[in-house]
Amino acid sequence: MKNTLLIIALAISLIACKKTETKVVQEDPKPFTEAHRPQFHFTPPKMWMNDPNGMVYYKGEYHLFYQYYPDSAVWGPMHWGHAISNDLVHWEHLPIALYPDSLGMIFSGGAVVDEKNTSGLGTANNPPLVAIFTYHNAEMVKQGRNDYQTQGLAYSVDNGRTWTKYEDNPVIKNPGFRDFRDPKFFWHEASKKWILILVAGDHAILYGSKDLKSWTRLSEFGKEYGAHGGVWECPDLFPLTVEGENTTKWIMIVNINPGGPNGGSATQYFVGDFDGQKFTCDTDKSITSWLDYGPDNYAGVTWSNMPDNRTIFFGWMGNWDYAQVVPTDPWRSANTIARELKLTRVNGSLHVRSIIWDGLESLSKGQKQLASLSIKDSLDVSAQIGFPVTTSIVQGEIEAKDFQFVFRNNKGQKVKIGFDSKAKQFFIDRKESGKTDFFPGFTKDITAPRIATTPNLKFTMVLDVSSVEVFFDDGLTVMTAVFFPEEDLSQLKIYSSAGVIKVDSLTVSQLSSIW
Ligand code: FRU
Repeated sequence: MKNTLLIIALAISLIACKKTETKVVQEDPKPFTEAHRPQFHFTPPKMWMNDPNGMVYYKGEYHLFYQYYPDSAVWGPMHWGHAISNDLVHWEHLPIALYPDSLGMIFSGGAVVDEKNTSGLGTANNPPLVAIFTYHNAEMVKQGRNDYQTQGLAYSVDNGRTWTKYEDNPVIKNPGFRDFRDPKFFWHEASKKWILILVAGDHAILYGSKDLKSWTRLSEFGKEYGAHGGVWECPDLFPLTVEGENTTKWIMIVNINPGGPNGGSATQYFVGDFDGQKFTCDTDKSITSWLDYGPDNYAGVTWSNMPDNRTIFFGWMGNWDYAQVVPTDPWRSANTIARELKLTRVNGSLHVRSIIWDGLESLSKGQKQLASLSIKDSLDVSAQIGFPVTTSIVQGEIEAKDFQFVFRNNKGQKVKIGFDSKAKQFFIDRKESGKTDFFPGFTKDITAPRIATTPNLKFTMVLDVSSVEVFFDDGLTVMTAVFFPEEDLSQLKIYSSAGVIKVDSLTVSQLSSIW
């Protein structure tokens, strides 16, 4: 009898298990297949995302945090969303890492591995991950105060899975600036201390610390340098060695909104030196260098504690002019692909160039190489490759004459990317790209100067359903733009408006989805 009962109980529980399993499978919605959903760029499953935050590599995992509002698909009280990756290509979504508290919402910031446990918040054997971010206190804004942004600290001793806010927050108080935010910090071995950079409206301020908790102001930079068409946001400071030379320079990144070269948000950078105290800029005060000329790469900074000291950049593929009204649902915004930054000398002056993260190649599921082509009027690339270019990398080398790459669909909607040799300018045209009426300026001409002067130019275009990232001349001129066609832009033709144009090489790789 007992045995019979046991068997019946077992059978019931097996059926119950089976039922649950089936239920899970049935309820699992097809993820990430909505209209305009990028297939290999990071996006939150739903709701609003802006800046990437706290990007840090630790024990085989890349931790990506991001400005996140879990209750709506427009900006609101900010949290830090969280995802991890082991290749900077595939992502696993994790629970929210930081929630607003009595000191304020959680704005942008950085994170590091405190390897020597200088903060004392972990142990020598289990060093903590330390994040420093901006607290934005909406109550204090309402009270008409100026000191509503301060810098807070949180730490994790379980590989970033859970975070504890430091009991003595804020670690940097506001000296009286309405804009006082976006800390990014690193260990500076030469001066044996942590260096933190943040922005205060129209300039950057550097701080130093031995323990990540108590900070001393060191210097400031920028009131008279670069672009000032908007507020300075999300800065970064890191060394890069000049390619082919033995010189190391320091690069300061400063995001700015508005005031970008094509309207709204953009990322500028300065090349100079840093002595542990002060950043000195090499370039003339009036010169502005843009990391990306496109309208849709903002708030980007670099990863901390990279295993091989590579400098890897990640941006938010958005523009504050219209990011909150783009026609996507139930999420808004994506990040750029990971990009490696290099410092290179061109005709005597130093430029930061961006190249695509080599790990992206792992997504290639088919590739077609076309060699020694010449374009008289047009070249129908799609007819030759036999697969859609909706999610692809198109790269090669072409004569620097007037050409246009046209990505289109059967509805005649298109994005044009080209070169105007007279103006020595690249352009992206999204006038006929599909849904454009959510923002009047969305169809404006987007242009970027050519920095290289060689007779041929190399190009890499990364297409992902609703975005293109274009790297001309090995990444010396970069343009990122989003678009929203009603059908996939699956076809590619190249047009010449300058007689015959030689294409030395053309490779198209079709990429698979990461989801
Ligand atoms: C940049 C920014 C930051 C701020 C965050 C708020 O896009 O405005 O300056 O910390 O977004 O979400």
